[in-house]
Amino acid sequence: MKTTKLGLGTNKVGGHNLFQNLKEQDGYDVVKQALDSGIKLLDTAYIYGEGRSEEIIGEVIQNYDRSNIVIATKAAQDPQNNNQINNDPIFLKQAVYDALDRLQTNYIDIFYIHFPDNRTPKNEAVAALNELKQAGLIRAIGVSNFTPEQLKEANIDGLVDIVEDHYNLVHRQIEETEWPYLKQNEISFVPYFPLASGLLTGRYTLNDYEKFSDDYSKAEFETIINALAITGKIADHHSASVTQTILAWYITNSNIAVVIPGARNKQQAADNTDALNVTLSEEEFQQIDKAFASFKNK
Ligand SMILES: NC(=O)c1ccc[n+]([C@@H]2O[C@H](COP(=O)([O-])OP(=O)(O)OC[C@H]3O[C@@H](n4cnc5c(N)ncnc54)[C@H](OP(=O)(O)O)[C@@H]3O)[C@@H](O)[C@H]2O)c1
Repeated sequence: MKTTKLGLGTNKVGGHNLFQNLKEQDGYDVVKQALDSGIKLLDTAYIYGEGRSEEIIGEVIQNYDRSNIVIATKAAQDPQNNNQINNDPIFLKQAVYDALDRLQTNYIDIFYIHFPDNRTPKNEAVAALNELKQAGLIRAIGVSNFTPEQLKEANIDGLVDIVEDHYNLVHRQIEETEWPYLKQNEISFVPYFPLASGLLTGRYTLNDYEKFSDDYSKAEFETIINALAITGKIADHHSASVTQTILAWYITNSNIAVVIPGARNKQQAADNTDALNVTLSEEEFQQIDKAFASFKNK
């Protein structure tokens, strides 16, 4: 599967149920902007707008060469049951058919089980997706938000191709708890929340601590602001922004397959795409790594 190491996260494309004040047109513009500037992977999910994100993407891609686009989508929330998590094989297969309809395509490049349920044997859920993979309806099987133990159960038959989990420079615990298993089993890794929902864009100062006090202690927040200042110096050297430099760090990281920053509007999407032009030296990569090293336990 060929893609650039930078993709587009689309939970703000039609994700009206998750975020307030989204403009539908911005969603269309974000996807077009990304595709026009060479981004190939679009990361969506049923739950982003309860199908609306997939519908918008489906409409937009009709004007592009499908073979150049990598579509990743996810499901597990059951629309017939208040979006409760369901990994039942019959449900998952229907979820794939429904996503294919909304995306107006005849195959999905990556289909993730979005969340594990607490009753379906994980390998049986994956086996259901494997039937669809054999039939050519999906090309890769993914799981998301599984614990390391759940992932091992899901991958008993070696059928998991890709994992998407919460990871960024201020949330690094899975470097130790998950990455060694992924490497041993040749499973690709896609981090979500690469910009820590905007915190790592460099647009906040120490005065904004209250906004983040649920997630970080004051001392941790100070470390983040200092680490972003170090990143800012490296960014200046490349005539780039902090956001682009943070994204470049993930792009450089060989443990990461694709980075999928979200964007609220086409300016952000365009800005993020320029991260592909930032090439960090090994020394710069290590400097950023060290600045955020204390988050390896978080
Ligand atoms: N598998 C899962 O369970 C799961 C969970 C969450 C997300 N995801 C996927 O991962 C993707 C990324 O996560 P995310 O979008 O929630 O978080 P993110 O990528 O960490 O942050 C995206 C947010 O950062 C801000 N931003 C982005 N580019 C910017 C720029 N150039 N300048 C200034 N601010 C910028 C915007 O916030 P403002 O809107 O505040 O401006 C944007 O919505 C999602 O879109 C989704 O596809 C998957």
